[in-house]
Amino acid sequence: MRIVDLRSDTLTKPTPAMRRAMAEAEVGDDVFGEDPTVNRLEEMAAERLGKEAGLFVASGTMGNLVSLLAHCNRGDEIILGDNSHTFYSEQGGAAAIAAIHPRTIPNQIDGKIAVKDIEAAIRPDDIHHPLSRLIVLENTHNRRNGSPLEVAYMRSVKNLADKYKLKIHVDGARIFNAAVALNVNPKDLVAVTDSVSFCLSKGLAAPVGSLVCGTQSFVDDARRARKVIGGGMRQAGVLAAAGIVALNEMVDRLADDHANAKKLAEGLANMEGLDIDSNGIKTNIAYFEITREDLTAIDLVSRLNEKGIKILASGAGRLRAVTHYHINAEDIDVTLDTFSKIFN
Ligand SMILES: Cc1ncc(COP(=O)(O)O)c(C=O)c1O
Repeated sequence: MRIVDLRSDTLTKPTPAMRRAMAEAEVGDDVFGEDPTVNRLEEMAAERLGKEAGLFVASGTMGNLVSLLAHCNRGDEIILGDNSHTFYSEQGGAAAIAAIHPRTIPNQIDGKIAVKDIEAAIRPDDIHHPLSRLIVLENTHNRRNGSPLEVAYMRSVKNLADKYKLKIHVDGARIFNAAVALNVNPKDLVAVTDSVSFCLSKGLAAPVGSLVCGTQSFVDDARRARKVIGGGMRQAGVLAAAGIVALNEMVDRLADDHANAKKLAEGLANMEGLDIDSNGIKTNIAYFEITREDLTAIDLVSRLNEKGIKILASGAGRLRAVTHYHINAEDIDVTLDTFSKIFN
């Protein structure tokens, strides 16, 4: 049976070129700063994002956590969206590990948090309050249909951040999806931010790893933070080698994933019993709702699964499908055909 696995872009397996690069990688002890392949990847990442320095970390979650640890002191407050991955899906690590107080404000349908809401959340100088320190944005926004945040919005947040002397971190797990969808240089999307984390192991198909980029002094602090949470890796060049291939070879093809997600969304929009805003799908993630009373998300997932189509239930009637390197246009046809047998 043909399997079409749309649960996540993290399912992507390394390409043959990645496996070759991993086998041949030159390595050293990265905690001593002596792994040439890690060093090369960190320099490349910083260069791609227009930052001074980069740091290779195990995951997106670790990238966000070390960034928070580097920017904030115990008891500081961060302002972030209530549907952001950092708040919603990282086990509350900001509070549990970094002793940071999260202040959430609603994520808009397009993944933004409104500048006026950020301003209203900033604490006045009062001994009763925590100190507002950092604004955390997410680009693309996972739980908001993979929406990309545009340069103009980033600038408007920066104007506010400057007014109140706050810093900005971007969880750019899928920043290259945003850049491809908006047809801008990724540097422009993070030019106003103090730090950015991005993942190699999602749409870019590397097996492991994320990077954190910012000023040299921020990266020095993030490197110390990485060590205390056990993220000092040794001959990590075998992993970084795949990351270098990911950055060199896997960015431009993200446009195919976006086209496939759009095609899927437009097809699903024609089905009776499903609600999806296909205009809102701009990258590789599509959320949709079941409007039929007789079917739950779990039931639908299991009926599709029997026919080889895998998607994720992400709420009582809410589902998610994500396109990636192992999904082609024909897989989308097969998926839509299977849906239509259930819905039409
Ligand atoms: C927006 C976003 N940030 C961070 C992460 C965390 O990445 P990881 O699973 O590598 O920890 C994810 C994972 O899906 C994500 O979607």
